[in-house]
Amino acid sequence: MPQVNIGVLISGSGTNLQSLIDNIEKGNIKGTIKVVISNRRDAYGLERAKKHGIDAVYIRQKDFESFEDFNKAIIDVLKAHEVELVVLAGYLKILTPQFIEEYKNRIINIHPSLIPAFCGKGYYGIRVHEEVINYGVKISGATVHFVDEGADTGPIIIQEAVEVAEEDTAESLQAKVLKIEHKILPLAVKYYCEGRLQIEGRRVLIKE
Ligand code: GRF
Repeated sequence: MPQVNIGVLISGSGTNLQSLIDNIEKGNIKGTIKVVISNRRDAYGLERAKKHGIDAVYIRQKDFESFEDFNKAIIDVLKAHEVELVVLAGYLKILTPQFIEEYKNRIINIHPSLIPAFCGKGYYGIRVHEEVINYGVKISGATVHFVDEGADTGPIIIQEAVEVAEEDTAESLQAKVLKIEHKILPLAVKYYCEGRLQIEGRRVLIKE
């Protein structure tokens, strides 16, 4: 089976990116990361990419007149690398409708809660886990989903839960959830690369 060309967008430390790199190097995923793009110069994920011989590109929004142009620049880099699947691994900007149209049903995101709880505009980073603790829910988790025009609204591919313990802080919960993220993001990408994900309305079926 041919390899799927993957592009990963990041804004930060890139531990999810690392989990993809590790799984690809182990031969678990029939894909190749062609390029890693960050909107932040100091994102450690760029270093992780370079260490593994992957093209690492920093694109600064300020260099463009509009948000649309900034997004077009990202699309251009993805196209230059012949990317077929875009993975958002801790990428903290929204995508323009043009971007989503260009890669329709070919963009995957990881979110650190059980969607549709604790998601949408403003829910990112440690904030998600603070809200989870403050609300007092007993279970949280992570979700991998396809990206559509909304914020965290696209069809769900995989979810996994963790227990919120009484002694948990936002930080300890974040660490627990990250462990799950590092498992389900590579798994979703593996399924995608094997052509096993079938979208039917809001539901994603995982074929044998
Ligand atoms: C993860 O919690 C991810 O779910 C969220 O941003 C965080 C990124 O972490 N979207 P990392 O950069 O992969 O370490």
